[in-house]
Amino acid sequence: MNNIMVTGGAGFIGSNFIRYVFNNTDFKGNIINYDKLTYAGNLESLKDIESKYKKRYFFVKGDISDYKKVIETFKKYKIDSVVHFAAESHVDRSILGPEDFIKTNINGTFILLKAALESAKNGSFYRFHHVSTDEVYGSLGPKGYFYETTPYDPRSPYSASKASSDHLVRAYYHTYGLNVTISNCSNNYGPYQFPEKLIPLSILNAVEGKDIPVYGDGKNVRDWLYVQDHCSAVWLVLKNGENGKTYNIGGESEKKNIEVVKKICDILEELYPSSENPNLSGKKYKDLIKFVKDRPGHDRRYAINCDKIKKELGWKQKYDFDDGIKQTVKWYLDNKEWINNIKSGEYKKWIKKNYINR
Ligand code: NAD
Ligand code: TYD
Repeated sequence: MNNIMVTGGAGFIGSNFIRYVFNNTDFKGNIINYDKLTYAGNLESLKDIESKYKKRYFFVKGDISDYKKVIETFKKYKIDSVVHFAAESHVDRSILGPEDFIKTNINGTFILLKAALESAKNGSFYRFHHVSTDEVYGSLGPKGYFYETTPYDPRSPYSASKASSDHLVRAYYHTYGLNVTISNCSNNYGPYQFPEKLIPLSILNAVEGKDIPVYGDGKNVRDWLYVQDHCSAVWLVLKNGENGKTYNIGGESEKKNIEVVKKICDILEELYPSSENPNLSGKKYKDLIKFVKDRPGHDRRYAINCDKIKKELGWKQKYDFDDGIKQTVKWYLDNKEWINNIKSGEYKKWIKKNYINR
């Protein structure tokens, strides 16, 4: 591996992954960040990397559905590996408008596979690693876990589009012999996450004295993983995983949404007491929690069994939820410029249009 194309490198996990590879591994080659810069893409998340790794980090603005641009980038940078993060990633948006999810997540993945295969025919191609989600497996009851062998049962336009892309990646392995690996991961949290997802949204709304919206009864369960642990797992699969194989990645840290939100309020009381926050006008952070109308088709519980990657590749999580969530709250308190910039553009307009009650 000399020239890795990271798609969606300006997004939450992609930007953390690029930082992880440069700062925490022995990789000596180049990273080419290929990103369309949708509302969720932000080059400010990589400012430190741009200046520190000028000779090894390159950015290309492009759509993964644009074959001409993709193949041109493969040729120009002699791409020999792909780590594919680019996607439309938010379930609520997929309910309001699925089209972009079909275009990017399904068609875009197909275009990338086509370019990778073309490249593989003409030279050496190490691997296409596809980053996917545990949501492809559907929804669990109070017991049980998702295994790599669990049948697919996606229920939202987002998870259905990710499931389709997983199938395409596998088809390229079985039909054309392209070197591929897939990982299906549980919910991530950490620095640089776009504030439409539960954890950053709750932190920022609380600090601004706005309602913290909890869907339904707040008892839906997610298995939370600190983003850096996801990055270390993807790197291990890319380097040492076996072609054609799928690896589940999880936090082994199941929490009800209401527990997560209350925990955030407790940490905020410690780091920035509500009594010192002028936006709270005498309220406590927990007073802002508001149960709102449930998400349609809201999956009840996700829980990953990740024994395979632990046993076969020696991966394990480094951060437990209490440490990770505290670091995350602190990061959002300390990075006001990043937040103000991200919240001032398209996102502000979208929130106004779609979340009138917030
Ligand atoms: P994100 O929404 O923060 O970032 C997505 C990035 O992809 C953005 O930079 C965006 O500009 C880019 N992008 C979108 N459409 C594009 C296109 N057509 N062409 C090129 N670039 C495009 O997403 P994220 O949370 O970082 O998730 C990254 C990947 O990880 C996704 O594939 C997602 O399905 C998967 N995943 C996410 C989680 C999670 O909890 N966030 C968990 C498991 C798996
Ligand atoms: P989210 O961060 O959107 O991730 P995903 O839907 O991919 O799991 O949501 C995490 C959980 O939090 C999910 O059960 C929906 C819930 N949720 C709320 O209760 N309120 C919110 O405002 C959001 C965005 C999510």
